[in-house]
Amino acid sequence: MNLFIKKIIFTSLILLFFIYTIVVYTIGTSNDAGLNLLNEQSKKGKLLFQKYNCIACHQLYGLGGYMGPDLTNIISQKNKGPIYAKAFLSNGTVRMPNYELKENEMNELIAYLDYLDKTGVSPVKYFNINYSGTISQHKK
Ligand code: HEC
Repeated sequence: MNLFIKKIIFTSLILLFFIYTIVVYTIGTSNDAGLNLLNEQSKKGKLLFQKYNCIACHQLYGLGGYMGPDLTNIISQKNKGPIYAKAFLSNGTVRMPNYELKENEMNELIAYLDYLDKTGVSPVKYFNINYSGTISQHKK
């Protein structure tokens, strides 16, 4: 192989490296649909979720404590939803503490649960394997 061809291969590899890097750092990280859904109310709910340490007993996206159920999709689950969730928040149960939450705190927590529901699925039962090898999940 003569030097000219080697130089062409070398330069195109360098070029491809830069194009790939630019694509990964720009497009590759820009499709977080969840960020747009995190509004003021759900942000406050997230802080409350952390303050009351709900994760000690509950899982989000499958991770957390295992005393209570996973809360990722509680808002869209059959026979559950915002009113159902509110009942637990306002009364607690034998095993779940009653935090004496104010009305707006409950609504903020529910807004956060709604945000979680729109951004993920847990457990992942139904998914497609994309041409690029990545996996996209869906509820059914
Ligand atoms: C000490 C453990 C514990 C903590 C902390 C806790 N929970 Fe729970 N939670 C439970 C348990 C256990 C259940 C299931 C009902 C039962 O068995 O009493 C539950 C049920 C729920 C449910 C209904 C879930 C379903 O699918 O039926 C919701 C919603 C909920 N909790 C939200 C929260 C939120 C929000 C927080 C934080 C403010 C929280 N929990 C903190 C233990 C806990």
